[in-house]
Amino acid sequence: MPLRPDVYDRTTITLHWLTVALVLTLWLVGTFLEDVVPKGALRSGIWSAHFVLGFAFLGVLVALLAWRNTNGRQLPVEDPGAWHVLAKANLATLYLLLFVIAGLGIANAFVRGVTLIGPIALPQVGDPEWRRPLTYWHGIAANILMVFAFLHASAALFDHYLWRGPVLARMVPGRAPAAPIEGP
Ligand code: HEM
Repeated sequence: MPLRPDVYDRTTITLHWLTVALVLTLWLVGTFLEDVVPKGALRSGIWSAHFVLGFAFLGVLVALLAWRNTNGRQLPVEDPGAWHVLAKANLATLYLLLFVIAGLGIANAFVRGVTLIGPIALPQVGDPEWRRPLTYWHGIAANILMVFAFLHASAALFDHYLWRGPVLARMVPGRAPAAPIEGP
C-alpha cells in the first residue's frame, strides 16, 4: 500500500485516540459515579477501574510523548501564524494538566491505599488527611482540562468543517501509513 504523505503514523493516531478515550472515561466516572451508582460493591468496583485505567492512562501518555519526540511522524505546519501559536500553547497546557492530574491522582490513590483488582491494593502511604485536598485539586484540574480539551477539539473541527483544512483528517484512523515515514 502506498504511504500517504499527509497523515500521522498509525502509532501516533492509536496513542492519541486511546488518550482521548481514557481521559473522557476517567472524567465521566470521576464526575458522575457518586451521583449515578449507589454506595456498595458496584461503586467500589468502578472506582477501582478508575484507578487501574488511571495508571494505564499515564503509561499511554508517556508512550505518546516518547513516540512523538522520537520516531513519530512530524507533519509540516499548515499556517505558522497566531492560530498555530495558540494551538501549540493549548497543547502544552493540555500535557501539563494531564501530568498534574495523574500526579495528584496517584498521590491520592497511595494516601488512601486503594484497592486495584481483587486482593491487589496499593500500600497506604502518607497522611490520610491529604485525601481531601488531593481529591479536590485532582477534580478541579480535571475540570480545567475539559475546557482546554474542548478548545483543542473545537479548533480541529473548525479547521475541518469551516476552513476545509487538513488538521483533523491527518489524525483520523484508517488513513494512516503502517510505519513512520522519513522527512516532511
Ligand atoms: C486524565 C485522567 C483523569 C481524570 C480526568 C480523572 C478525573 C477524576 C475526577 C473528576 C474525580 C472526582 C474528583 C472529586 O470528587 O472532586 C476523580 C477522583 C479520583 N481519581 Fe481520578 N482522574 C484521572 C486520573 C487518575 C489517576 C491516574 C489516578 C491514580 C490512579 C486517579 C485516582 C483518583 C482517586 C484516588 C480519586 C478519588 C476517588 C474517591 O473519591 O473515592 N485518577 N478523578
